[in-house]
Amino acid sequence: MDAVCGRVRRHEPVDLGPVPGDRPDRARRPSARHRLRLRAVNPRRGASGARRRATAEGVPNVDFRQADAQVYAFDPGTFDIAISRFGVMFFDDRTAAFTNIASALRSGGRLAMLAWQDIRKNEWIMTVRETLAAGRDLPMPPAGAPGPMALADQDDVRGLLAGAGFESIGFTSIEEPVWFGADAEAAYEFVGEIGIVKGLSDGLDADTKAAAHEQLRAALRAHETPEGVRFGSGAWLISATKA
Ligand SMILES: C[S@@+](CC[C@H](N)C(=O)[O-])C[C@H]1O[C@@H](n2cnc3c(N)ncnc32)[C@H](O)[C@@H]1O
Repeated sequence: MDAVCGRVRRHEPVDLGPVPGDRPDRARRPSARHRLRLRAVNPRRGASGARRRATAEGVPNVDFRQADAQVYAFDPGTFDIAISRFGVMFFDDRTAAFTNIASALRSGGRLAMLAWQDIRKNEWIMTVRETLAAGRDLPMPPAGAPGPMALADQDDVRGLLAGAGFESIGFTSIEEPVWFGADAEAAYEFVGEIGIVKGLSDGLDADTKAAAHEQLRAALRAHETPEGVRFGSGAWLISATKA
């Protein structure tokens, strides 16, 4: 992301969709005048907790808001960079969302975001779907629909971002294993909480769900390595410039 954004000394970045526990310095802009991290409401931990952690870690130039990036009233033309690691795939109205994000950027400002590639490039998603299918014939998620595959299709994303006011749209393929935990137990604690697992578990009766989750645990055990539980994945690093 640094490479996409450029190493300009005094950026004002906005980070879209971090998670609780993300280190406040992860936007890696210690010289920024002001950094904003914005994520959708999480009932468990609010922005005040994130602020306290940032203060405790000695990172004063970061602000946190619990807000929906689709409609958040950014001060127009305020930010130099909008970054997101897998936090921009869940918008109900993607055009409205990226138009709003573009409005937050200065002309020439950069957008850098990570999003998953096609489902077949993502062993981890295929595994979650296979283990939790529980006899159901799960339809492939259509490109563009809110969810992990929302920005998987290059042509679709080019049209989306151009329509929202971006140009110089580029894609870098990143094919690295995802790491889910030091061992299968730790990995299950994490994976059991992610949206796709919860979504696929919804509607299963208790016994079916328990059996499906046992299959998921078995798959995690089968992927244990000395470096932890790893699955193949493919992501796009998508870059663009505000026109
Ligand atoms: C898959 S998590 C990614 C979290 C983190 N960036 C990471 O890489 O670990 C998706 C994040 O996007 C946030 N999110 C989803 N929709 C959002 C929206 N409309 N506005 C702001 N944040 C959103 C969620 O709250 C969550 O924190």
